[in-house]
Amino acid sequence: MRIPRLLTLLLLSLGSAGVIAAPAKSEDMKQLAAHAGCLTCHSIEAKAGGEEPIGPPWAEVARKYHGQKDALDKLTQTVLQGSNPYQSHWKNKVTGLAMPPNAVAINEANTRKLVAWILSLDAK
Ligand code: HEC
Repeated sequence: MRIPRLLTLLLLSLGSAGVIAAPAKSEDMKQLAAHAGCLTCHSIEAKAGGEEPIGPPWAEVARKYHGQKDALDKLTQTVLQGSNPYQSHWKNKVTGLAMPPNAVAINEANTRKLVAWILSLDAK
């Protein structure tokens, strides 16, 4: 059993070094979002027809903030601390009045990663 075990270890370390094709980044981000509970209020793409969503579809977030340099920093803080109900950015476009703070569900580093991915969604 010695060789297979070594082989497994080798494969594992190659995998984590990114040598072996890593699963699509989008899949990681979707998982992260699902674990943090984001997807109860947000969809990734806008859904055709139907009712207004609770929170803005992320592809629309990407469109809205396209080319804004400070968007990553600002939105990371909004996600962690929640949005200001008196300065709604999505008034009349969503049914949610404000986003609650998510810092209990996701840390800052992961939030930044997720927001960077969200902001890239209009490129597709
Ligand atoms: C309980 C529902 C809810 C959850 C859970 C939620 N959101 Fe939101 N989110 C909203 C609403 C409502 C808005 C619109 C706020 C506004 O109008 O300014 C929003 C707005 C946003 C925006 C745009 C903010 C802006 O100022 O334009 C981003 C980015 C975002 N959410 C990401 C996330 C991420 C990432 C998570 C998970 C960690 C998450 N949301 C979890 C309801 C939610």
